[in-house]
Order: sequence, then structure tokens, then C-alpha cells
Amino acid sequence: MSKIVDREAVRQAIEKLPLFSTSALQLLQVIADPEHELEDVIKIVKFDSALTMRVLKTVNSPVYGLVKEVTSIDRALSYLGERMVVSIAVQENTGQLFSKPLEGYQGEQGGLWRHDLFSAIASREVARYAKGNFDLDLAFTGGLLHDIGKSIFATFWKDASQDALGQIDQGIVSDYLMAEQDLTGLDHTEVGYEMACHWNLPESLQAVILHHHHPAEAIECMQPLVYAVHVGDIVSMMAGCDTGNDGLQYQLDSGYKEFFNLSPNTLAEIVLNSEEEFSKAEASLVC
Ligand SMILES: [Fe+2]
Ligand SMILES: [Fe+2]
Repeated sequence: MSKIVDREAVRQAIEKLPLFSTSALQLLQVIADPEHELEDVIKIVKFDSALTMRVLKTVNSPVYGLVKEVTSIDRALSYLGERMVVSIAVQENTGQLFSKPLEGYQGEQGGLWRHDLFSAIASREVARYAKGNFDLDLAFTGGLLHDIGKSIFATFWKDASQDALGQIDQGIVSDYLMAEQDLTGLDHTEVGYEMACHWNLPESLQAVILHHHHPAEAIECMQPLVYAVHVGDIVSMMAGCDTGNDGLQYQLDSGYKEFFNLSPNTLAEIVLNSEEEFSKAEASLVC
């Protein structure tokens, strides 16, 4: 029996997803602009009372151990950094997508959020070693959303997934993404890209979501960003923060060397730094 996924059913599932709020979209657009300033982010947060409350709750979480309560957004943002505000906004606007169990991947509940958050932190760390100018917070945002397609694809992938690892072992396909394509005619990057289009996310994020496993396929101007997330994703899996049975079943494209100075030592440092930041971020972002 064919396990080819009905694209129309996937399209309908995506159509049903609630849209991002205006402020969350503005925030992602502002972050995607390398010329933006912290003040632009502050303005957006101040106009959204729900976001303001979550940001203040996060900065005052016991994880940060601040002696004095922070009550202003300006201070909260300078303390937390733009990336934590983006995390809060993305978490709020994607609802249950990050927390539902990934059926086809046999992933744990909340595993997608943990993997994407770790990848976001690692992608930002990778970006610090860029040979050219690089917007660190955009790398973080890309990492945070790169695998969002799995949240919808997992359900459609359920019936075919048991054959994926066997296909890789037998050399029929070279990685997990190809197994998804081969078995269903679709993969989590394509589904994620359709979701990003539905949400009207900035083009740079659409490119990350679509090309994070094959960054060389992204248009040239997007490649540094897509490679940062590509490496950040692998680092996350190396640190044991994967989404289930696809952990480390993807190829590392060495083309990242054109954009980043990463020695084995710096990679080890990136893993350590990411683990430290991740445990704090994860604990403070609990809803
Ligand atoms: Fe992926
Ligand atoms: Fe990933």
C-alpha cells in the first residue's frame, strides 16, 4: 500500500493554523532586518500587554536570581536579550505545535521545543564565529523555527516512519530527510516552508526552514544564515537534544567552512556554552 502523503490534507492542516499576532510578526520582521536597534524591539513589546507580561514574568523567574524585581521592559530586554523575547513570542503564537508528541519520530512530548531552542542557542553561538558581519539574533530565530514542519508532518509520517532507519542502513537513501521524501513524497522542511508562508514569516526564515538540511540549495545571500542553523542543528543533536529517531541521521555539509571559522575546539566550546544557556532558557520559558 502506498504511503505517499496526500498534499491536500497537509495543506488543509496548515490552513487551520492560527495566524501569528501582528506584534509577533512585526517582531520577527524587525529581527530579520540587520539594521534594527533594540529600541525597535522595545516599542513592539510595549504595545502588546500580553507579551509585556510574559517578558516581565520571565526576567523575574527564579532562574535568573535577580535581587530586585524588574518592572520595566527596557531593563528586562537589556537583561534578557532580544532572543528571549523572540522565544516568548514564538512560543505564544505557535500554541501546542511545539509541545505535542512527535508521533512519527517517536519523540517525547516537548522534544521539538527543546531541540529547536537548543538549536537556536547553538546557531547563535556558531554565528559568533562568522567570517563576515552576522546578525546573531536572526540566527537564533532561524534555529528556533527550523524544524517547525515536524509538528504537522509527524502525524502524516507515522505510518511510513518505521521503514526510514532501515532505508538509511541499507544505503537506499543517504539521510533521514531523503527517507521522508522517498517514503511519503514530502518532508518536514517542505511542510515547514508551507507553514512559514501561511504565517507570512520573513523570507530569511522561510529559507532557513526550507533549506536547513541542504544549505547549499539556498540562494547565495541567505547561505551564511542557513549554514549557521545547519551547524547549530547538528550541534544540538550531538549534545543529545534531538527530536527522536532522526537524531544524527542527517549529513553535515562542510560548505559551512566558507562562512565560519570553526575548529574542533571551538565546536566543543559551542556545545558547552549552548548547554549552559539552554538550561537557563528552558527553565525560564516554562509557560
Ligand atoms: Fe530538520
Ligand atoms: Fe533540527
